[in-house]
Amino acid sequence: MIRAVITGSGSALPEQCVTNAEMAKRVDTTDEWIVERTGIRQRYIAGEGETTSSLATEAARKALEDAGVDASEIGLIILATATPDHTFPATATQVQANLGCRGGVAFDVQAVCSGFLYALGTAESLLRTGMAKKALVIGAETFSRILDWEDRTTCVLFGDGAGAVVLEARDVADDGPGILATKLHADGEHKDLLYVDGGPSTTGEVGKLRMKGREVFRHAVVNLADVLKEVLEDAGVDSGDVDWVVPHQANARILDATARKLGLSTDKIVVTVDQHANTSAASVPLAFDVARKDGRIKQGDLVMFEAMGGGFTWGASLARI
Ligand code: UT7
Repeated sequence: MIRAVITGSGSALPEQCVTNAEMAKRVDTTDEWIVERTGIRQRYIAGEGETTSSLATEAARKALEDAGVDASEIGLIILATATPDHTFPATATQVQANLGCRGGVAFDVQAVCSGFLYALGTAESLLRTGMAKKALVIGAETFSRILDWEDRTTCVLFGDGAGAVVLEARDVADDGPGILATKLHADGEHKDLLYVDGGPSTTGEVGKLRMKGREVFRHAVVNLADVLKEVLEDAGVDSGDVDWVVPHQANARILDATARKLGLSTDKIVVTVDQHANTSAASVPLAFDVARKDGRIKQGDLVMFEAMGGGFTWGASLARI
């Protein structure tokens, strides 16, 4: 059967690392509050010249090298971002130009923190139809550019970065590698809990991120536990057989609460929120790359990806590496 197989990964971070102690000099907060409520210890913030496309390109180049794939072989680029370089064209086309692989399909997906899951699900479907043979799926963000740096309830939570995977259509055996099941959802009822208060068609300005964190937290735990169960059922896999969960890195307490609801051991959860904070669509591929490169995630492992974000949007995907 034809499956979309993850054959490489890469990631990129801005040069500047900002610790909680440094954040406490900007807004009325403390290292203790941030660590206790979120697990975050530091975040990376894009400097002048560092953009969503530059981070995405670096992550994509590393993923291509890791997969042993030349940029010219890539027929599809899907880039998940809520912080594109420009309103248009799609940042994916800029990445395509940077990589020098003209002519294939390239577009952005906007599902905020769930963007990578949406991009992965879309790429997987397109590869299975034969539209392309090899794809780059990227999550890249510069959320620092849409933060209200006076609002301590949001500005301490986010960071910038990018992660990418190479996906290849391969004819594999039933127990072989590839994406086994994906479920995606959205519910536009809850827009006011997490949104950016601007845009080209409303204010004509980019706007700033606004969030009612406590309410988002409550929805996140319920929605994530539900969608994880849905994917496990669809794939016919028991939660005990999952080797690693690579979740969206919003808050360490959400990761623990979701794991508890599913009866999953917290040892199986890849946690990078302490290092990167919440990098929105970049967080899942960034965490995946960290855990692959440090040797935790190995070939043959069963890996669950999951995320929830503004919209609300949420989703999960199970893959054998
Ligand atoms: O990525 C998309 C999905 N996003 C999420 O999943 C985020 C989900 N939400 C969260 O992670 C948590 O709700 C937060 C980390 C955002 C907040 O944690 P919380 O435990 O829900 O805190 P809270 O909002 O209930 O605030 C508790 C207190 C408040 O003070 P009072 O009203 O109790 O006096 C806040 O004003 O903490 C105060 N506070 C702060 N104090 C120090 C809020 N932000 C800060 C801060 N430093 N940065």
